Amino acid sequence: MGDVLAIVSQKGGVGKTTTAVNLSAAFARRGLKTLIIDVDPQGSVRYGVGLRRDHQNAGFADYLNGQKSLREVILPTALPWLRVILAGSVSDAADHATYQQLIAETDVLPDLLATARQRCHVVVVDAPPGIGPITRKVLETSQRVIVPLQCEPLALQTTPQILRGIQDVVATNERLTLDGILMTMFEPGNAASERVVDYVRRHLPANIVFNTVIPRTIATTDAFAAGQPVVLRTPADAASLAYIELASQLAERFI
Ligand SMILES: Nc1ncnc2c1ncn2[C@@H]1O[C@H](COP(=O)(O)OP(=O)(O)OP(=O)(O)O)[C@@H](O)[C@H]1O
Ligand SMILES: [Mg+2]
Repeated sequence: MGDVLAIVSQKGGVGKTTTAVNLSAAFARRGLKTLIIDVDPQGSVRYGVGLRRDHQNAGFADYLNGQKSLREVILPTALPWLRVILAGSVSDAADHATYQQLIAETDVLPDLLATARQRCHVVVVDAPPGIGPITRKVLETSQRVIVPLQCEPLALQTTPQILRGIQDVVATNERLTLDGILMTMFEPGNAASERVVDYVRRHLPANIVFNTVIPRTIATTDAFAAGQPVVLRTPADAASLAYIELASQLAERFI
């Protein structure tokens, strides 16, 4: 049985989706049977995961509301060991209230995660920003969680909130482990960026912060624009190497 690995953060735009798709691709490249599920109504996984061919935008939301079967929403990717469940039609809708309500009031999401982990080595869940009802529900059924922290000063201010949120969930899901805080978009030579890394290393316990730091690279942005994980499109890029290294550390914990 595999683990459910949630990628969450308080702040938006910190690299959750980038981390989710690249870790998933790096796991799959190592031969781990991997499923990535996008539960964020923004639906960004669709743009970066490397889908194999033109597909309908059916996904988790459509399974949640009973319009599609599980079989119909699990899509192949360029990697044989990586499958994806996109966010689905909710990402085309302006109103996410019904979607949120269905997640909060039904057991569809926890049941899906429980089934998925029986069939995979790892199930990566890309969450929306903040610790609202969707993220909470994901954490309640996850075994592991990674918190990306963008290397810019404002990011530090929201970290205590998400850690407290995770701590609250641990009260009901004692199997939930914080794998670590992952510093992202690091810019060597940028004083503000270096100050954040320095501050995190000095003030947060070493066992909850990954040694691996993800640099900000042009190849990462380009890969997203080209619809692919950077670890597949430009494997020698510094961000790719960092994600591949992180996946190899984590893979040892999964098996
Ligand atoms: N290492 C990196 N190098 C360069 N650009 C990056 C890197 N990581 C993320 N980005 C860019 O930063 C932006 C935000 O990243 P991403 O979408 O992964 O964040 P997010 O936390 O998922 O955002 P949201 O909270 O909106 O879901 C994207 O444009 C992405 O391409
Ligand atoms: Mg995202």
